[in-house]
Amino acid sequence: MSAIVAQSLGKSYNGSTQALSDLTLQVPQGGVCGFLGPNGAGKTTTVKLLTGLLRPTSGECSVMGLSPQTEPEKVHALCGVMTETARMYGTMTGQQNLEFFGETAGLVRAQAKERAELMLRSLDLWEAREQKANQYSTGMMQRLSLARALMHEPQVLFLDEPTSGLDPESAQAVNEMITSLAKKSGVTVFLCTHQLRYAQDLCSTYGILHRGKMVLQGSFATLCEGAGCHIKAGILTDTEQTLPGFVKNGEYWETEIASEAEMPAILRDLIAQDIPVYEARLIRPTLEDVYFSFLQSQEVAK
Ligand SMILES: Nc1ncnc2c1ncn2[C@@H]1O[C@H](COP(=O)(O)OP(=O)(O)OP(=O)(O)O)[C@@H](O)[C@H]1O
Ligand SMILES: [Mg+2]
Repeated sequence: MSAIVAQSLGKSYNGSTQALSDLTLQVPQGGVCGFLGPNGAGKTTTVKLLTGLLRPTSGECSVMGLSPQTEPEKVHALCGVMTETARMYGTMTGQQNLEFFGETAGLVRAQAKERAELMLRSLDLWEAREQKANQYSTGMMQRLSLARALMHEPQVLFLDEPTSGLDPESAQAVNEMITSLAKKSGVTVFLCTHQLRYAQDLCSTYGILHRGKMVLQGSFATLCEGAGCHIKAGILTDTEQTLPGFVKNGEYWETEIASEAEMPAILRDLIAQDIPVYEARLIRPTLEDVYFSFLQSQEVAK
């Protein structure tokens, strides 16, 4: 069974703004699915539909085989959700908030206390545990929201921009936690993010949303293919002559190759021509390359 399924899912706000159109998607269990796209693409709308916070105007969806629309309590028991707008009780301390939300999610008091303490320590909030939530900084609040989402050990975790307000050290800790949840505990993570550099290390599959439509989805290799981004060979040389088949990019001469297996033949060829090669490197496309090149092609095609 897939962890998350959407079939022709659509949402229009006020009958006019079509925030999401015809979204079809299947996210396997375990692993991190990166959900990417520009501001206003429909990512948060999708999370809200998948977690029953909004009703779709068309299509359907399920989480662990359950409908968020008809069985929201069961879905909430299995899911942790962290959105941009997660609210805490400002006059309660960090720890009180976690214990309260833990009990709301079905934990008995002693369990909620134990779990809250573990979360506060794991998310580096232990020293702030007795501080009122309205005295938390943005990043502390964000970590508290993540802790809240994790209180009842969810099988599926929806994270909407979990690291956007975090300092690099906290962001790294949260990313490590996400990886460990997915790898060691088999949790399925649905991660909306703009932080493409982190996403590439974290995600096993991706979806790119553009103007409410899913425009590309699959593994990183599938994305590269869809966006027409190829691996390149880069050659550093001080020769005055032009290297046939190569294009100069900064200091390097570059040429697209099908795979790294082509590199030895390229080098043999250059050396046979007496071209002094100081450095040869493989330039692999990054998620940023794929994202920008694909979205540019979408804008051009519009
Ligand atoms: N409550 C609402 N009422 C009307 N329109 C809305 C509402 N919420 C979102 N929208 C619109 O739906 C579209 C998708 O918004 P959404 O918040 O899902 O985008 P997003 O991909 O999460 O963007 P961001 O990267 O900025 O968080 C946008 O055009 C937005 O203006
Ligand atoms: Mg959003």
